[in-house]
Amino acid sequence: MFTSLRLPLFGLLSLALAQAALAADCAPDQRHGAEVFANECGVCHSVTKGATGMMGPNLAGVVGRKSGSLEGFSYSQAMRNKNIDWQAENIAQLITQPQAYVPGTYMPYMGLASADDRQAVVCFLKEQH
Ligand code: HEC
Repeated sequence: MFTSLRLPLFGLLSLALAQAALAADCAPDQRHGAEVFANECGVCHSVTKGATGMMGPNLAGVVGRKSGSLEGFSYSQAMRNKNIDWQAENIAQLITQPQAYVPGTYMPYMGLASADDRQAVVCFLKEQH
């Protein structure tokens, strides 16, 4: 009886551990991330799916999206040529110093100095689908 339970239980346990590891990465940062986004990015970017009319492209679903690819947004040539998929790491690089990461970008942002703030805002963006 125990033998037959062991495998499914082990599976569940590994799943729980994997989720805990993910949560350890991001969960405590969610509220802080939302604040950082509101203070640093929200003036130019929306995370409401489909919302338009802001200076920057909508960032709902940006993690995993190809750079410069949002339909209807007029990107700089530099951003259109960047040709990467946005992931946590390269978004963090972009917001460290946009003009260094994408020379010629239209994103008029000086950069976010705190690595903790960068990590938190990227965690927040991962949850905006
Ligand atoms: C003053 C306005 C402004 C601020 C503040 C700003 N951005 Fe941007 N952002 C832009 C513009 C404009 C673009 C388009 C750049 C281009 O076409 O070169 C952009 C592009 C981006 C992109 C690329 C999206 C895509 O579809 O390829 C990401 C990711 C991004 N911004 C994240 C952020 C984050 C995170 C913050 C806050 C830490 C932030 N931005 C702050 C204006 C801004």
